[in-house]
Amino acid sequence: MSSASSPPPVTSDLLRARRSGPLRGRCTVPGDKSISHRALLFGALSDGPVAITGLGRGGDNLSTARALAALGVTIDIDAAGGEARVVGAGFRGLRAAAHALDCGNSGTTIRLLTGLLAGQPFETTLEGDASLTRRPMRRLATPLRAMGASVEGRTEPAKPHDIFPPLRVKGGALHGVTYTLPVASAQLKSALVLAGLQAVGRTIITEPGLSRDHTERMLSFLGAPITADATTRTVTVDPAGWGGRLRAAPITVPGDLSSAAFLIVAALVVPGSEVTVEGIGLNPTRTGILDALAQMGADLEVTETGNAMGEPVGRVRVRASRLHGIEIGAALALRSIDEIPALTVAAALASGRTVFSDLHELRVKESDRIAALARELGRAGVPVEERPDGLVVDGLDGKPARGGTVRPEHDHRIAMAGAVLGLAAEAGDETLIPADDIATSFPAFAETLRTLGAVL
Ligand code: S3P
Repeated sequence: MSSASSPPPVTSDLLRARRSGPLRGRCTVPGDKSISHRALLFGALSDGPVAITGLGRGGDNLSTARALAALGVTIDIDAAGGEARVVGAGFRGLRAAAHALDCGNSGTTIRLLTGLLAGQPFETTLEGDASLTRRPMRRLATPLRAMGASVEGRTEPAKPHDIFPPLRVKGGALHGVTYTLPVASAQLKSALVLAGLQAVGRTIITEPGLSRDHTERMLSFLGAPITADATTRTVTVDPAGWGGRLRAAPITVPGDLSSAAFLIVAALVVPGSEVTVEGIGLNPTRTGILDALAQMGADLEVTETGNAMGEPVGRVRVRASRLHGIEIGAALALRSIDEIPALTVAAALASGRTVFSDLHELRVKESDRIAALARELGRAGVPVEERPDGLVVDGLDGKPARGGTVRPEHDHRIAMAGAVLGLAAEAGDETLIPADDIATSFPAFAETLRTLGAVL
């Protein structure tokens, strides 16, 4: 079925995906978005200039860099490569911003900065785009208030128990807390760690599931007084006797597995493909997608080649495969939380049923991803059922998807998932993807796929 009749949406950047011939070759992906945020933030808190290699330069990371610059931090990012330099001035080197900090689309920027600013003796307003402005923040405000900070947000009559950006943070004299997070969340955990490093006394944070642990790994590498126990999912920050500054060590950011996920799934579902993605982070709190795809029957070869600041790094070689449905819930879901959009594309083209569950948090990401994925798979002719905490996808099992117009609603990962699905659509069908938001995490997404041979 051709989709040429749907009018293209008004956008400055529109991708057109068509059924693709085999994808072949080797490629790299941008620096890991989560680790890049932390490299910038922790670099700014260290005791001297810090060179960062491989920094992600998507919109979200640039939001963190701009916000830090507005707080008085000197940051130089090389426009061409991934090199950057941050002049660390320690926790005492920040100064009040002259204007509200624009966190753009980035939940990590607003939440980690709020944790940091909770310990600073001035008031800051943090705001963002329409998507960020809908994301829940009481989960962050409650523990920070318990530590002594003032955190106020916008209220919404329809959701009286939560608060939303813009946030107003006035730092206090913080004291440590013992706190159990209501959800497993690396953003919350990291925000409380940043507050805890500025507090008097010990802060102990426990989470219901183990979220990504980049903060723990990088802060340990930089000499912060932090210990983590993966078994009990507890992080302890004890600043007593610590000088308050992080070591100014060079930081290397591995490639982003969350970006690679779309290339890996594209290679799996486009017949005849063989692709190797090099230099990507293989932190076990992030590799749920590789385990899920292996369970689905993917021909994957994962090779660890090195380590950067305690983060395992390696390459993934992937060949087009006949996939089958599986159950993705609990631990696997948490370890692939940002890769669920890519995984639903694999499920859509597999044989049999894939059940995604325990994914309530997907409803409060850059978009309501459960609703968005149900809509986009349905549009492409994939039988899908939306559930409160997930999706049931009945794979097309060899039949092609339909083309059409993707509605990403400012969510980069929905746009990329729609594009990959378009590469496996019926011959002659076109998939139109408003692509402005892809630059949030993977500005070279289309270019990388084209280099591998995709028609995009
Ligand atoms: C992130 C944590 C996760 C993830 C997000 C990045 C981080 O969010 O989904 O894309 O860098 O800490 P939650 O902390 O809300 O789970």
